[in-house]
Amino acid sequence: MACEAPVGVFDSGVGGLSVLREIRRELPGESFLYVADCGHIPYGEKTPEFIRERCVRVAEFFRARGAKAMVLACNTATMAAVADLRERYPDWPIVGMEPAVKPAAAATRTAVVGVLATTGTLQSARFAALLDRFASNIRVVTQPCPGLMERVEQGDLKGPETRRLLQGYVAPLLEAGCDTLILGCTHYPFLKPLLEELVPADISLIDTGAAVARRLSAVLKECGLAAAQGPVSHCRFWTSGKPATFKSILPCLWGESADVEAFSK
Ligand code: DGL
Repeated sequence: MACEAPVGVFDSGVGGLSVLREIRRELPGESFLYVADCGHIPYGEKTPEFIRERCVRVAEFFRARGAKAMVLACNTATMAAVADLRERYPDWPIVGMEPAVKPAAAATRTAVVGVLATTGTLQSARFAALLDRFASNIRVVTQPCPGLMERVEQGDLKGPETRRLLQGYVAPLLEAGCDTLILGCTHYPFLKPLLEELVPADISLIDTGAAVARRLSAVLKECGLAAAQGPVSHCRFWTSGKPATFKSILPCLWGESADVEAFSK
């Protein structure tokens, strides 16, 4: 596998762009293939079996294009599918992500941490195992957020409907005494400016994008697959939704325009 080969980055929708921007900052010489499975959102309300099947299709697509590694830039997909993917492709580096329970447990002063995530993530066995492992000395209050990723998919990061939804999801966490909120879905970092308006200034907001970027960097180095560092980074985008819709949202969420192709698997 050549060091110049691209890395495949995948999410159910636009959320993974919040991870890809951290990865591109950390690894400016790498090239990327990004697939957004917008035709099948929200993953948070789908079965693990359905998500695993979608992940395999995307993995096959990346492999057919010579991707040297895959990043699951989606907590819900990681919870449902990372173990299965690693079993299927034992020699192919796969980086997943999960809600930042460990760093939140280290950061909290009130010993009460809130997790905003999808229903699928919060109901998964992998999330339960994460709590068993890292949250035995703190209280974790979970909050599923149906409807929230759809607001981000529409590029509505601050409108009245998004504000109403987010306020409703955050209020119980604040009432429970959380001083640290985990953004456990990759769509939510795009709502950070709105969240900062809705919560007191001393509440910490933690997401995992930068940690995933560092992990990918370490994995590529370990496997001898890191590209030479340089300013040339190329990204290609596909969606199983409407390419025109995805294209129209890129300048807002990605900061640049780009062509978007149809993913019809
Ligand atoms: N962005 C995804 C995550 O990190 C999930 C959004 C969805 O429900 O499709 O969990």
